[in-house]
Amino acid sequence: MKFAVKLTSSQPERWLSWLVAACLMFPLAFFGLLAHQSRVATLEATDQQMVGTVTLLREHAQKVLDTDELLIEHVDRLIAGLSWEAIARSDSLHQQLKQLDRQLPQVGGIFVVAPDGTIANSSRPIPAAPINVSDSDYFVGLRDGHQGAYISSVYRSRATGAEQFNFARRRSTLDGHFDGVIDISDRPVYFADTYRNIGDGASVALARNDGQELAYYPRPMFSGSRAPADLRAGIPEEEPLLIGSVPSPFDQTDRLGAFQRIQGYPLFVGYTLPRATIMANWRKAVVLDGTLIAIGSLTVGFTGWLALRGFRKEQVEVRKRQDAEAKMEQARRMEVLGQLTAGVAHDFNNLLTVISGNIERLRANQSDYGKKRVDAALTATSRGTGLIRQMLTFAGRQTREPEVVQVNAALRAFELLLGSALTRNIVLDYQLTTKSTTCRIDRMEFELAVLNIATNSRHAMPNGGRLEVDTEVVGVHASGDGLELAPGQYVRVAFIDSGVGMPADVLARAFEPFFTTREPGGGTGLGLSQVYNFARRAGGLATVASMVGRGTTVTIYIPILNADAAGNHEHITVGAS
Ligand SMILES: Nc1ncnc2c1ncn2[C@@H]1O[C@H](COP(=O)(O)OP(=O)(O)OP(=O)(O)O)[C@@H](O)[C@H]1O
Ligand SMILES: [Mg+2]
Repeated sequence: MKFAVKLTSSQPERWLSWLVAACLMFPLAFFGLLAHQSRVATLEATDQQMVGTVTLLREHAQKVLDTDELLIEHVDRLIAGLSWEAIARSDSLHQQLKQLDRQLPQVGGIFVVAPDGTIANSSRPIPAAPINVSDSDYFVGLRDGHQGAYISSVYRSRATGAEQFNFARRRSTLDGHFDGVIDISDRPVYFADTYRNIGDGASVALARNDGQELAYYPRPMFSGSRAPADLRAGIPEEEPLLIGSVPSPFDQTDRLGAFQRIQGYPLFVGYTLPRATIMANWRKAVVLDGTLIAIGSLTVGFTGWLALRGFRKEQVEVRKRQDAEAKMEQARRMEVLGQLTAGVAHDFNNLLTVISGNIERLRANQSDYGKKRVDAALTATSRGTGLIRQMLTFAGRQTREPEVVQVNAALRAFELLLGSALTRNIVLDYQLTTKSTTCRIDRMEFELAVLNIATNSRHAMPNGGRLEVDTEVVGVHASGDGLELAPGQYVRVAFIDSGVGMPADVLARAFEPFFTTREPGGGTGLGLSQVYNFARRAGGLATVASMVGRGTTVTIYIPILNADAAGNHEHITVGAS
């Protein structure tokens, strides 16, 4: 017997499902937001760090140049009031210059240059022949009126072969005439050494306002060692300039740059970082965050899923129990109804026997007219006896000895009977297995069951249709295969009609004794319950499946006596015009 159980998901189950979904969705959204925010924060922090670094670099350069400035002032005081001849001869001046040179790491030489361009004294060993620098750019520039410190471009020293640039100032007589030059040679390598620890991938340069690089690390920052004009023009007087993208002339990497001018000198410093390095750091942080979030949310999600699974299992158990309880209840009702029916039928049968006996006796002394009446009464009583038999059959009180029957053969023998139970516009189609279908059943009951099913199908197909009768040998495993059947071999007889079908509430009660949807007097509601009881008594089962508008399938399982393995389908079509 089939009972429809509602399989809708319950409130807690929905909540649990939502929780599991939320455990996966929210962290994902949260992670996206976090990744975006951390990207913004990383770029902001990088900007700040770049500004901080370029400011430090500028301060460093500023200190070095201020030191040069002080050194020049100091040397100027040392030679104040001395004639150029005295300066050239002074060994103590030479010693002092040497001392100063040694003390200051950025300094590669200190030179006192006479107005004619000869080096009068210096921190370097005194050469045999005096050196003349009157053709040097710094000398020419200062002699011709350059004001303030003159910073030359980088060149290779003729004396030492090392790279250097000049930081020089002009001397003036009291009346303002040109009176030679004091020149410091600065070593770019000193700056490069200072920049060495600036960080992975970072690049630093010290350059003149005309773009010429004086010092850099690790490589020249600009192509041709010259900063482009638009960059130079863009650097404000006081503030650092931040640039979002500086393509490197050497490896064409996308770099972020910060540039700042050095106060009081025609110089600026530059500091750049590859964008890839910054983004790699950001990505590392994001991957770490993502992993932690994923672990957290998967743990919670998994726990939720376990809870959901447990809950569903429990619900299945509850449904099974409810199902079993409903079936027991139904069985009890059937039992009670059976007893009641049997009782009524039994007493009624006795009464009918008395009535028909008396009518029989009355018949002898009747006129023709009277005989007709008596015959009508006898026909009615015999119909009543038929009904009683049906009731007793349903109640299982009229069991005959079951006999060995070939289900296929029996069905074929019923063919004519079946055809007559159907209207001519219904096609009867047999699809019978060729395997053995030997069963032990009450043949009459089986016939009645087939007739009951066929009659129902005829009612369901007022405008014609098709009734297919299938047999198949099926094995039921220890699990029962979802059916309430003992494991073993069964003949499965399916009656498939293409009728109107049943709505769920009718389907749920179709096997119930006395349940009918026909008008009063139209049906007893015992048809399908007879089918069910027959199958049960035979040691099998009857099921019904139906969909409104699609038709109905009534299936009877009957235990088989001995099945042979081989065989195919037999196809027989009967009836219908
Ligand atoms: N093949 C079918 N198609 C559609 N509905 C069906 C079909 N078989 C049964 N039903 C429905 O199930 C109800 C019960 O069927 P059942 O055979 O037990 O009683 P009945 O046909 O109403 O009466 P009876 O068989 O005693 O004349 C029917 O009234 C009908 O609503
Ligand atoms: Mg019926």
